[in-house]
Amino acid sequence: MGSWGRLFPVLLMGFLLGLHHSTAFWIVNVVFPPNAKARPASNSTPPLIIIPGSLGNQLEAKIDKPTLVHWLCYKKTDHWFPLWIDLNMLMPIGVDCWIDNIRLVYNRTTHRSSNSPGVEVRVPGFGQTSSIEFLDQNKLSGYFHTMVQHLVNAGYVRNETVRGAPYDWRLSPNENTEYLEKLKDLVVEMYEQYQQPVFLLGHSMGCHYVLYFLNHQPQAWKDKYIKGFISLGAPWGGAVKALRILTSGENDGIPMISNIKIREEQRMVATNPWMLPFPNFWPKKHVFISTPTFNYTHQDYQRFFTDIGFQDGWYMWEDTKNLTGDLQPPGVEVWCMYGVGLPTIVTNIYDSEFPNGDPVDFIYADGDDTVDSFSMGLCKLWEGMQNYPVHVTEYRGLAHLDMVYHEKVLDQIQNILEGKSETPREVETRF
Ligand SMILES: *[C@@H]1O[C@H](CO)[C@@H](O)[C@H](O)[C@H]1NC(C)=O
Ligand SMILES: *[C@@H]1O[C@H](CO)[C@@H](O)[C@H](O)[C@H]1NC(C)=O
Ligand SMILES: *[C@@H]1O[C@H](CO)[C@@H](O)[C@H](O)[C@H]1NC(C)=O
Ligand SMILES: *[C@@H]1O[C@H](CO)[C@@H](O)[C@H](O)[C@H]1NC(C)=O
Repeated sequence: MGSWGRLFPVLLMGFLLGLHHSTAFWIVNVVFPPNAKARPASNSTPPLIIIPGSLGNQLEAKIDKPTLVHWLCYKKTDHWFPLWIDLNMLMPIGVDCWIDNIRLVYNRTTHRSSNSPGVEVRVPGFGQTSSIEFLDQNKLSGYFHTMVQHLVNAGYVRNETVRGAPYDWRLSPNENTEYLEKLKDLVVEMYEQYQQPVFLLGHSMGCHYVLYFLNHQPQAWKDKYIKGFISLGAPWGGAVKALRILTSGENDGIPMISNIKIREEQRMVATNPWMLPFPNFWPKKHVFISTPTFNYTHQDYQRFFTDIGFQDGWYMWEDTKNLTGDLQPPGVEVWCMYGVGLPTIVTNIYDSEFPNGDPVDFIYADGDDTVDSFSMGLCKLWEGMQNYPVHVTEYRGLAHLDMVYHEKVLDQIQNILEGKSETPREVETRF
């Protein structure tokens, strides 16, 4: 906030230039997305609700803090200010203020997370598209903007037929019941307004939110209100990357913040333990983290959390492992779309600096550079497990974040919304 105001333009340029295209999962980093060219507008625009991934919508905060981590941090604000993305996180002291504002405090007795003392957090723009289109108020870090613009060119209307359902992505759905009720109300509202069932579209972790939501609705309700679920790049079996993030942090190419610094924030976010690779699906012997003294499989999560010095993480994992951990079918028609053909880390190898240094080596498998295709392909299990079809499309050469921008994906989404039934099994996206 405030005191570094004049430095912002300079920093912003550093921020923009430093971001590598498509390295991120938790941090959205495509700043200048390609232009969306939709086919001519059609009059078939069934209502659509977009559920973003982790870090995928704006958050705002208001503070009146009892103590400060640094005297330069703001102690009290009268207004709501951007917490995500807050460019102060790029400053040497600003990052400490930011972490102290965005962190959650976990209580092992109640199994609940709360905001840092003296911090209120709210999610702006529920039911609108603004807070998922761009993550910052200067409209520089575009996320769903390209897709929404594509839909608008195809006849959709922002805040009306296409809406966003942003949420506090620091929390897992068991701690976000109010959000899930709002989502349900939004579905019903759009259904009644347009006299048609509604499509849900999720990206990455947002797909787990959608699955959790659908798993908790009666089948008759889904039959009536939901037209289908479009899932983009869902880590259905969890993400190996979550383990690395919790171990040694991951700045995802943001300059000026070290991995070990951002780890402080990443360990406070309950959704990171939730996304650990799901034991029901991964082979018992698969080593996710290898160190000179121990090889960690999913049977060793308790020891893992002890060894990295983050015991709360074990409780957070216990609280969240059953939320979507058995992949109950959603009970609606599904289009499961994800990238393949890129080397993706499935084992992180550390030297003796574990857990305070970066991995020194990796083992790769096929995936979208962030999540492996084994995990994303688990939606195939639903074929035959529910009364509705499951369509799976693999995009060869497409990176995790590019799922929300690539014209071939946007085209396919338009086809689905227009009711064109043909769904390719594989699409080549490399030139
Ligand atoms: C956790 O919650 C319990 C019950 O509300 C409370 O008594 C306890 O003080 C809390 N623990 C911490 C560390 O805040
Ligand atoms: C959608 O809602 C937001 C927030 O109220 C507003 O700023 C924006 O102009 C609206 N967009 C349209 C196209 O109505
Ligand atoms: C971990 O697994 C690797 C590969 O199988 C093996 O070479 C190494 O000895 C194991 N390390 C420990 C500490 O068990
Ligand atoms: C999670 O699921 C397992 C296996 O289905 C069950 O034994 C366990 O009690 C569940 N735990 C919670 C906290 O619901």
